[in-house]
Amino acid sequence: MRDLREGDVRPIGVFDSGLGGLTMVREFVKYLPGENIVYFGDTGRVPYGSRSPETIAQYARQDESFLLSQDVKMIIAACGTVSSVASHTGAGLPVPFIEVVSPAARAAAKLSKTGRIGVIGTSATISSGSYARQLQALRPDACVVSNDCPLFVPLVEAGWIDKDDPVTVETARRYLAPILEAKVDTLILGCTHYPVLSGIIGEIMGEDVTLINTGEMAARAAAAYLEFHGMLNRSEDERRCRYYVSDRTESFSKVAAILLGRQIGDRVERVDISKY
Ligand code: DGL
Repeated sequence: MRDLREGDVRPIGVFDSGLGGLTMVREFVKYLPGENIVYFGDTGRVPYGSRSPETIAQYARQDESFLLSQDVKMIIAACGTVSSVASHTGAGLPVPFIEVVSPAARAAAKLSKTGRIGVIGTSATISSGSYARQLQALRPDACVVSNDCPLFVPLVEAGWIDKDDPVTVETARRYLAPILEAKVDTLILGCTHYPVLSGIIGEIMGEDVTLINTGEMAARAAAAYLEFHGMLNRSEDERRCRYYVSDRTESFSKVAAILLGRQIGDRVERVDISKY
């Protein structure tokens, strides 16, 4: 029997192809401070961004099915790639589903003054045209310039995120050159791995360009949904976060600490995702 004064204490399920979704979990401190979390990072199959839409949808279904087995009250695809090419997998779920494209597109359409909006993401995300389509629907005057940045995910997963890292800085310069040339005033970081590189990206783009963190926008959307439906966790118990991965737990803990901004200790378990 649920105590109504406590709201819905079940955890929120968050998944990503790897560690990038942790940039969204980091935002929970601000927007969803009372929520318990179950995070699944598909580290054994990352990256998703270079795979076919069919494979990405199959992986997303397994990730969602694992989270459902953890009795979650909501599932968030903290992955721009899944949100772009496989968000239909969330439609039939028995719990609410939030993806990252719509909240970020809404924020960019609202914040951009000139309507010149840049989008960067994985190859699958950019070739799906998901952000451009939504931006154009929200703001027909928008001029959207996109570029895929396939090397960003492995650089982040390897922890090469230092602001002065010469390899990452040079890679970013090359990827951002066409966006810079297009004189955008807003740039959507269309992959949840990218906020970790926002220091480097911001420096290259200049301070007049607003960077949109997709994980942050989705966390806000999730908070608004749970609040509206009376599903926020109002219990005073300390919140619990459980982390699961589909490959070695050691390397996860190290980079996760950087992405989350705190140590996650030994609360990481390995899951055989092929069973889901
Ligand atoms: N964080 C995922 C995304 O937002 C990484 C993509 C990948 O696995 O290629 O797209």
